[in-house]
Amino acid sequence: MLLIFILFISLDSVTSYSGQEKGFLQCFSSHLEQSNQTSQVLITRNSSDYSSVWKSSIRNARFLNTSTPNLPRFIITPFHVSHIQSAVICSREYGLQIRVRSGGHDYEGLSYVGEADVPFLVIDLFNLRSISVDIENESAWVESGATLGELYYKIAEKSKLYGFPAGSCSTVGVGGHISGGGFGTIFRKYGLAADNVIDAKIVDVNGKILCRKTMGEDLFWAIRGGGGASFGVIFSWRLRLVPVPSTLTLFSVRYTLEQGASRLLQKWQTIGNELNEDLFIHAVLEVTDAKTVGVSFVSLYLGGAENLIPLMQESFPELGLMRENCTEMDWIQSVLYFAGFSTHDSLEVLLDRTTQFKGFFKAKSDYVEEPISETGLDGLYKRLLEEETSYLILTPYGGKMSEISDTEIPFPHRIGNLYKIQYLVTWSIEDESAKHTGWIRRLYEYMKPYVSKAPRAAYLGYRDLDLGRNKNGNTSYARANIWGLKYFKKNFRRLVQVKTAVDPGNFFWNEQSVPVFPLK
Ligand code: FDA
Repeated sequence: MLLIFILFISLDSVTSYSGQEKGFLQCFSSHLEQSNQTSQVLITRNSSDYSSVWKSSIRNARFLNTSTPNLPRFIITPFHVSHIQSAVICSREYGLQIRVRSGGHDYEGLSYVGEADVPFLVIDLFNLRSISVDIENESAWVESGATLGELYYKIAEKSKLYGFPAGSCSTVGVGGHISGGGFGTIFRKYGLAADNVIDAKIVDVNGKILCRKTMGEDLFWAIRGGGGASFGVIFSWRLRLVPVPSTLTLFSVRYTLEQGASRLLQKWQTIGNELNEDLFIHAVLEVTDAKTVGVSFVSLYLGGAENLIPLMQESFPELGLMRENCTEMDWIQSVLYFAGFSTHDSLEVLLDRTTQFKGFFKAKSDYVEEPISETGLDGLYKRLLEEETSYLILTPYGGKMSEISDTEIPFPHRIGNLYKIQYLVTWSIEDESAKHTGWIRRLYEYMKPYVSKAPRAAYLGYRDLDLGRNKNGNTSYARANIWGLKYFKKNFRRLVQVKTAVDPGNFFWNEQSVPVFPLK
């Protein structure tokens, strides 16, 4: 009763609520009253913490502008799954769109920014982040609002001999990451995060709670790499933990163009995906202080240095790896390293949800099936040198990734790929946005002859609204086939079928959600 009273006071005192919003508030508050919950779950634009909660997990300053007209009408911060159910039921009833946010790392801000003039609310899952690790059964239940750092921390608390094959950045959210694929330093050995899901719990379009058994294998297939936001609100995942050795070895060596980096990169292109699956070497290209291109070969090996050195001498002797380049550590220390911390930091840093980069960035991705020629690479270096804060991260495929069928889950980029490229440009002054985004788009155009074709594939986890954008700069939903085929290849059709079956009214919508048949 108290809650309803609070809501009506604010309804009376604020004139800016539309009839639709009032309807939603009344519907939601009556649901809350039934579940005897508090008003902390609902944040309105008149709440003093609206802005801080909305901004709390935004990782890309391109979307931080609070004066944009497309801010959420409400933010729901569920403590219990019933709050998600109520939000879905009442949003549907009153015609509000929903954006679901777990870690807020979406490259295009789709979890917290809506289309202009389309009223929407955000369900932010940060309060739903419990993790229960079961070493005996080599599994864990993880709520979607947990971060990868929290997951790795909880596993390490129980055992140093288990890990999970997911991404490097500790503040990435479990919900968006797993539902979009999710790769990390041991994916050549164990596949993607999405390949290691045993069960999941989702609130569907009717507000019903479904698990793997009750949602059926089609929907369970779709949410593992097909992007969760098209299908419902996935609030919990059961994950398969994977064994890791007590000693792992890390190295990072950098060469500049003048030191022969290009020759090494050419060799890496031909062997990176052929290496033993215990060995992951990615290549990071960036502009050095001396205004040349530096290529860092950064590696994690699942074993000790005494085994790594002969392996490297056999497969990549040109790198000249020496024992002194190698550091042995345990799995969780390697997690710290790849998350950007020192391997000597306390593990508690993994629990910090606020530590990462908060500048502006734009990224794009490509898959490479044939080694890029020397001329092609020369043109790439030339373009990199035009943009000092640019990076290219080249991630080798092969190993387990080539063994899993390309239809096993919606993520289709398996055998036949040498490596993936992530193009990234960062900046700190808002007025320079057009300059930097223009640069990365020109680079992407330049790379066309050197990367996968028909389709020119892309990774959903590096969402890119340029894909399928029309000449006026709008992302046209009718052009869904363009990005759909790039992200999912032939799996796109099955995703549309599943979407049509589970959400025929297309309630769970965003600029790149899976459409329903017939495609318009
Ligand atoms: P966010 O909350 O923004 O959600 C992303 C998308 O998923 C949105 O469409 C959202 O609506 C939807 N969604 C989120 N939770 C959902 C839920 N519970 N149910 C249904 N839909 C849900 N990737 C990778 O594979 N390996 C890596 O190492 C990294 N590293 C990395 C570093 C940094 C700094 C960034 C910014 C990003 C990455 N990524 C990555 C990409 C990352 O995996 C991708 O952006 C994920 O979608 C982020 O998930 P969040 O939950 O954080 O994002």
